[in-house]
Amino acid sequence: MARDYCTMDDFTFKGKTVLLRSEFNAPIGKDGKITDDKRIRESVPTIEALKDAKVAILAHQGRPGKKDFTTLEQHAKHLQKYLNREVRYVDSIFSTEARSAIASMKPGDVILLENVRFYSEEQLEKTPEEQAKTIMVKKLAPLFDVFLNDAFGASHRSHDSMVGFTPVLPSGAGKLMAKEIDALTEATTGGPAVYVLGGAKVDDSVEVTKSVLEKGIASRVLVTGAVANAFLAAAGYDIGRPNMEYLENNKYLGEIDNAEGILRKFSGKVVLPVDVAINKDGRREDLDVKGLPTGYVISDIGSATIAKFSDIIGNADKVVLNGPAGIFENPEFRIGTDAMLKAATRAKFSVVGGGHSTEAVEQLGIADRISHVSTGGGAAIDFLSGKPMPAIEALKAAKGRISRMARPM
Ligand code: 3PG
Repeated sequence: MARDYCTMDDFTFKGKTVLLRSEFNAPIGKDGKITDDKRIRESVPTIEALKDAKVAILAHQGRPGKKDFTTLEQHAKHLQKYLNREVRYVDSIFSTEARSAIASMKPGDVILLENVRFYSEEQLEKTPEEQAKTIMVKKLAPLFDVFLNDAFGASHRSHDSMVGFTPVLPSGAGKLMAKEIDALTEATTGGPAVYVLGGAKVDDSVEVTKSVLEKGIASRVLVTGAVANAFLAAAGYDIGRPNMEYLENNKYLGEIDNAEGILRKFSGKVVLPVDVAINKDGRREDLDVKGLPTGYVISDIGSATIAKFSDIIGNADKVVLNGPAGIFENPEFRIGTDAMLKAATRAKFSVVGGGHSTEAVEQLGIADRISHVSTGGGAAIDFLSGKPMPAIEALKAAKGRISRMARPM
């Protein structure tokens, strides 16, 4: 496939020193331990393919000030387990110690540098050319022959480690990055897809709905989860006090107006639930939307909606799912989420994105029957909405520069 960015096939790596930006950002439990290392696991093929090179990895974990903002020491152990060879963790990013560890690597060595967000300039959003002038890029770039970006999950960020090396080093996409771009490009081009949006982030889902319908990326959007409540309210249903309170407490009331505008403009393309499942003192009970309002929390889509949506999804040529259909942590209210995902296995081409949905896919053991399970959360949402992705754009610009220089790689 012709690509407008370089991939690993465009380089030879034997004996080269490679700076690899990976996506290892993982959920961290109360005990401070990684609870799901899917992203680390998915990064392994790229690192395996670099077995004759000297590889130093840059990655992030959490955001400053948050509980999951930790060192990458345990990430190195997880990676080592999957790679079956030593991964040396260095507790700094570009200190003298880090640079001398990089300079003394032998082919086959792998070093994981410290959480790149410990560096205060990392998260400033700037252009690649501006980022290329930072201390980190100036200190690290001279030590490397090639920069590979495999961190699809952070590709919606124009952060230093994501775009700053591309103007100064021959740069390309790692295997995971290329795989994500291929699958999500297929989902967003060559004919519209059925989108199934859910989850608690009502603002994101309303924005995606508008964007994919305006751009013709989606033929229909089936709404579930909290976003369905905003659309039901926009369609004139009184969803009841506890459900309005959720929207109000999370500052989503304005989304009802946005949803109303979408319903007006794209009548018939947004498919609303015909019934909901309410949590009646711990018990699941279906309620036809004509029976609204309810004094109980809407916690899932109802059985008639499950049947209707499963039918649409299962018969679709292309389906994209992002976000659970209900409160999926509670077994009573994950029926909708599980049914949507199982139906997606019958579609000709299916993509699942977002942390909770991908977790549900793993738990159901159906990952091999979904065409692509994305490692991206916000990145997958942005890509699927047709937004430009700064880190991918930076790789494209880097390919242009390499061709102009006709530099041997
Ligand atoms: C993610 O988990 O979505 C990525 O690692 C990006 O993290 P961020 O939203 O903190 O930039």
